[in-house]
Amino acid sequence: MDDYKSPRISEELGSLSAGNAAERNPLSGGYVGTVLSAIDGVDVETLARGYGTPLFVFSERTIRAQARAMRTAFKSRYETTQFFWSFKTNGLNAVCQVFKSEGWGAEIVSKYEYDKARALGFDGREIIFNGPYKDDQAIETALREGAMIQIDNWDDMARVERTAEGLGGRHKVGIRVWFATSRGPTWSKFGFGLASGEALRAATHIARHPNLTLHTLHAHIGTYMLDPEAYRVATQSLLGLRDQIEADTSGRVACLNLGGGFPSRSLLHGMTGPADLHVPPIDRYAEAITSELNRLPKARRPILRLETGRHLIDEAGYLVTTVVSIKDAQAALMSDPSGLTALRIKELTLHGHPPKASYVLDAGINLLYTAAWFAISASPARNTDAMPEPARLVGDLCMEIDVIREEVQLPRLNLGDRLTLWPVGAYNLGQSMQFIHLRPAVVLLDLQGGVHVIRRQEELADMTGAEQMPAYLAGRGDD
Ligand SMILES: Cc1ncc(COP(=O)(O)O)c(C=O)c1O
Repeated sequence: MDDYKSPRISEELGSLSAGNAAERNPLSGGYVGTVLSAIDGVDVETLARGYGTPLFVFSERTIRAQARAMRTAFKSRYETTQFFWSFKTNGLNAVCQVFKSEGWGAEIVSKYEYDKARALGFDGREIIFNGPYKDDQAIETALREGAMIQIDNWDDMARVERTAEGLGGRHKVGIRVWFATSRGPTWSKFGFGLASGEALRAATHIARHPNLTLHTLHAHIGTYMLDPEAYRVATQSLLGLRDQIEADTSGRVACLNLGGGFPSRSLLHGMTGPADLHVPPIDRYAEAITSELNRLPKARRPILRLETGRHLIDEAGYLVTTVVSIKDAQAALMSDPSGLTALRIKELTLHGHPPKASYVLDAGINLLYTAAWFAISASPARNTDAMPEPARLVGDLCMEIDVIREEVQLPRLNLGDRLTLWPVGAYNLGQSMQFIHLRPAVVLLDLQGGVHVIRRQEELADMTGAEQMPAYLAGRGDD
């Protein structure tokens, strides 16, 4: 016994603190998942009762904190950085307004988004207009109002040229460029290819045009990019193209736009947390990009633009839901032992694991488009001493694919329990649909804990208002 040495937590834990040991062994400390009883100090149950569920909740505090941290990360390294908010990631007026008040410009990809930005008071010169197709009218408005059109392809180029010729004068434009970074997936659907020389041809084409000036080289290399070094390669690639353009045309491109793609602290299916293990801090991305730019002599340094979505908004968004049904396979088995074997065999065959409870929530993939890729976390609103058990989270749509999480560890929940899904602030609202259900209300929690409805729950008239009944169907059948 004298030889016995008590076990100690060693560097085997890497950079994790000893407290994180519980996260590695979910059974070590009872239920270790987060209980989320309040968001920014506002009680979840009170929100659910006051506004109904499902309910999207956005934290202004988180939005501003993310925006400011990103600004500091880049501005402290590279003063001439300009920031644009990606409307498609979350186009709610109140959300866009928060970014506007933080000094962000608007990045949009359609006339609808353009009009939205203008109605919110963004000046044309504060708008970047992306996308593979922009119609003639949208292009004309954008050029007239000084927005930065980033040209995507030769047909887009032809429409921009035609409109610029019609308007006369000189208009600043950008081109989107694609290339492989070898540090993540290659997005080749958008823009002019770099390796093929197409991007250089597009650039020299613009340089020769009497009504266009090439202002920006743009790349948006992907989304949820986990390797900051991909941005170093992207920066080098655009700088290399800029040198080639300068050599060929003797004009220098003023601005590099490195797009968005910075990850939020969500996890993809199959990743085991915590998020810090997978998601680098924004400073590492800022360092990768700006260290390349800062290598240049001061006079040659371009303006840096970023058009960010997910990183800024995902963690600010929550979806409060209610457990509306519990499909408890174990309980069913206990009450019907004869069914036990049949059910177990079926579940084992289909899923490769023993039966587990399915919690049916009042929100499904109609509201959670990103659940297909991301392991959205689910937190009960009340404390419980119960041990975590594997469970499945499904929505209430009449579709077999309406599964939010195939397996989560949750303490046993009761009917009516609130379960908050997070992070869900990026892309889910814009891509949500009125399939089977109308869409729920959205509230914003202000910095003082005030709750504001920023989109009311939809009503039948919102859906049917745009519909029209042909007269022959509207008439009485016996007329
Ligand atoms: C051209 C462009 N810019 C910016 C963004 C924003 O990307 P993210 O949300 O990954 O920051 C997107 C999103 O797909 C995009 O297509």
